[in-house]
Amino acid sequence: MGKVTSNRALGEDFYLMRVEEENNARMGQFYMLRAWETYPVLSRPISVYDADKESVSFLYKVVGKGTELLCQLKEGDEITLDGAHGNGFPSLADKKRIALVGGGVGIAPLYLAAKTYKKENPDCTVNIYLGFSGKTVLTEEFDAVCDKLVVNVGGFVTDDIDPTAYDAIVTCGPTIMMKVLYSKCVKCQAAAPLYVSMENRMACGIGACLVCSCRTANGNRKVCKDGPVFLGSEVFGIE
Ligand SMILES: Cc1cc2nc3c(=O)[nH]c(=O)nc-3n(C[C@H](O)[C@H](O)[C@H](O)COP(=O)(O)OP(=O)(O)OC[C@H]3O[C@@H](n4cnc5c(N)ncnc54)[C@H](O)[C@@H]3O)c2cc1C
Ligand code: FES
Repeated sequence: MGKVTSNRALGEDFYLMRVEEENNARMGQFYMLRAWETYPVLSRPISVYDADKESVSFLYKVVGKGTELLCQLKEGDEITLDGAHGNGFPSLADKKRIALVGGGVGIAPLYLAAKTYKKENPDCTVNIYLGFSGKTVLTEEFDAVCDKLVVNVGGFVTDDIDPTAYDAIVTCGPTIMMKVLYSKCVKCQAAAPLYVSMENRMACGIGACLVCSCRTANGNRKVCKDGPVFLGSEVFGIE
């Protein structure tokens, strides 16, 4: 159980919730959250937006019953959270030019990623590309943790990036967006490895049920346990 210290609406059904909880969460990991007793049956996976030793923050979008219940939580309420799960984003301490590309609520894990990459190598350049279909959220916050922020509203954020300008690219968002980015990297023969964070539907979140199975070049992998972060070539290079 954690205690909610804030849960504020950002517009466009986006919310930012901070929970008091001792943790060792790393960038790209996720928690299974629930703020209800019996229904929905399953907890919901939500990425770590930010974390320090005593608290974890989540950026989420209300899309159904579970997230609707999350957004009703008030300061002081208790929430059940289980995590942090998953492999998270890789260390890129040896890379000088890093791009983070997010679409929609897939921008969530990129905030802590930018902070972490800057911390592990203060000399690296971290550029962030965010794509929104409507109103933008938290752009000032993202701007503060990177060297350059590019925001695309209503278009294709994948059009804005030149993959050959980077030594590593990390992405999270709709599968189609990540797939297009992968194809662009292949087409322009980018040397940068592309890391994709998959958001498959989940049930247990701990590797026991196979609901989150994903076909990869290395056979079927569990997004919750083997992922959610994979090499783009592993997931999209097989079709
Ligand atoms: C590893 C991981 C990290 C995630 N991180 C975040 C995050 O940081 N912020 C955030 O807002 N969401 C995140 N998600 C997605 C989030 O888990 C779902 O939006 C949530 O479970 C929906 O629950 P619900 O009960 O509100 O909606 P439901 O009633 O379960 O579904 C409502 C609608 O959303 C669709 N939907 C539900 N889950 C997904 C999914 N995983 N992918 C695509 N469509 C889905 C359903 O098909 C349906 O149309 C993440 C998912 C995964 C697997
Ligand atoms: S959600 Fe059950 S194995 Fe991944």
